[in-house]
Amino acid sequence: MTLLDLNPDQLLSTTRAVRKRLDFGREVPQDLIRECVAMALQAPSGSNVVTMRFAVVRDAEKRRAIGDVYREVYAGYRASPHYAGRQAGDEQARVASSADYLGEHMGDAPVLVIGCTEGPDRASAKAMLGNILPAMWSFMLAARARGLGTSWTSMHLARERDIADILGIPYDTVAQAVLTPLAYTKGTDFRPAKRPSPDSVIHWDTW
Ligand SMILES: Cc1cc2nc3c(=O)[nH]c(=O)nc-3n(C[C@H](O)[C@H](O)[C@H](O)COP(=O)(O)O)c2cc1C
Repeated sequence: MTLLDLNPDQLLSTTRAVRKRLDFGREVPQDLIRECVAMALQAPSGSNVVTMRFAVVRDAEKRRAIGDVYREVYAGYRASPHYAGRQAGDEQARVASSADYLGEHMGDAPVLVIGCTEGPDRASAKAMLGNILPAMWSFMLAARARGLGTSWTSMHLARERDIADILGIPYDTVAQAVLTPLAYTKGTDFRPAKRPSPDSVIHWDTW
């Protein structure tokens, strides 16, 4: 395992949604994926019960099928008033162009990962979404530390059952939460994003 030379704050502030800089031509070793999942499982979970599950898709046909679903859902988003490209500003235009690219190419990533939670029934699985969300972010941080890129997406949830059918995920007991491509990044230099100041979002002692 070779990790990038990033201190904790650098790792936290440079783990971006990577889309155009995903290297689709380079295979991701299985052991690296296992390491990222091991790191993800260090995240907290309710009652310390591991309900998190990771559907790791390397099969080309299945990736293509998931990519097709994502493209279709993305087309609906693109036509909607919420589309980032319709919002003012260079930053939103940049995000829209990047998201458009992933809309076309999700299935081209060498690996797709779907973070899920499992429960005795679907309602219980969904109630445990709080377990998979921090775990997936840890997965993405661990990936970044290993030179891999990810992009948090949830749009596919509009067609969750179709994705479940493609992968044989038991829809009645497993809730999907996040779909991300996983690939080596083209270069490893990523910058902190422009974000609001802490004081614009902190409510000290009283709202
Ligand atoms: C809950 C959530 C849902 C998201 N859904 C999508 C998505 O469906 N497609 C996509 O391309 N990016 C998606 N993103 C990524 C955001 O667009 C991205 O995090 C944001 O533009 C900021 O970019 P950065 O992560 O590089 O700072 C999502 C992010 C979050 C947290």
